[in-house]
Amino acid sequence: MSTTFTLDTSTSRANPTPAPLKRLTVPAIQRRKADGNTEEPLVMLTAYTARQAQLLDPHCDMLLVGDSLGQVIYGLPSTVPVSLDMMCAHGAAVVRGSYHSVVIVDMPFGSYEASPQQAFESAARIMKETGCAAVKLEGGEAMAETISFLSRRGIPVMAHIGLTPQAVNALGGYAARGRSDEEEKKIINDGKAVAEAGAFAVVIEGVVEPIAIAVTQAVSIPTIGIGASAQCDGQVLVTEDMLGMFERVPRFVKRYNDVATLISETAASYAAEVRARSFPGEEQTYQPKK
Ligand code: KIV
Repeated sequence: MSTTFTLDTSTSRANPTPAPLKRLTVPAIQRRKADGNTEEPLVMLTAYTARQAQLLDPHCDMLLVGDSLGQVIYGLPSTVPVSLDMMCAHGAAVVRGSYHSVVIVDMPFGSYEASPQQAFESAARIMKETGCAAVKLEGGEAMAETISFLSRRGIPVMAHIGLTPQAVNALGGYAARGRSDEEEKKIINDGKAVAEAGAFAVVIEGVVEPIAIAVTQAVSIPTIGIGASAQCDGQVLVTEDMLGMFERVPRFVKRYNDVATLISETAASYAAEVRARSFPGEEQTYQPKK
């Protein structure tokens, strides 16, 4: 595995990444929430490839190499089959393609739940092989000991509570969480537990809005909402959902564009020109030197 964390601009098709600016840091992200208030909400998007990272990076504070890549990139039925190898390969690409955002890489299912030691080994591998600044793991109070173990050993951890997709088999689906008093209490406790354990931020996914607001007010670390509330300290979306790459998206997704149609129409134009032998044209064809 290459440990080169910069984009090779002599071989990349893209324009060179701008001269490295000072990259944001985990403490700088944490400081954006001061006295329980985040004046300017934090912006996070998922990224899985170097080119995608290059395009998103100037607009974001954080890029998340989410294990959602299992479904979005690999066509898997859930995030459960995602491996450490996949996360390391895509994490390294995103670090290579970015120069400004804090890059956070998801710990895949099965790589951290057994023990804090297992989590440390997996997180250390992710950080060494990708150059990312932090890892994210799912779970609240049950993961507090692990979060504390990692953060006391120099591994910044973003927690993820509420709807935790790696637990889809236990939860029985992807429905919003927190509709009963018991669930509400659990999610708020989870938020407090991960903050006390040393997480630098927490993703709150798929919960009824009052719970997201309650957690945001109860913890001193930034909360990053997805299907949560505009009152969270920041927001995240899966980039392909935001771009309009998929027809079926959860209620909480806003499709800011219709890239699926753009790709489809572009492919149709190409196919028509190939079939008509009008591509390649003169401009795309090499001729012998005279
Ligand atoms: O894997 C992912 O993309 C995520 C976000 C949806 C928060 O965890």
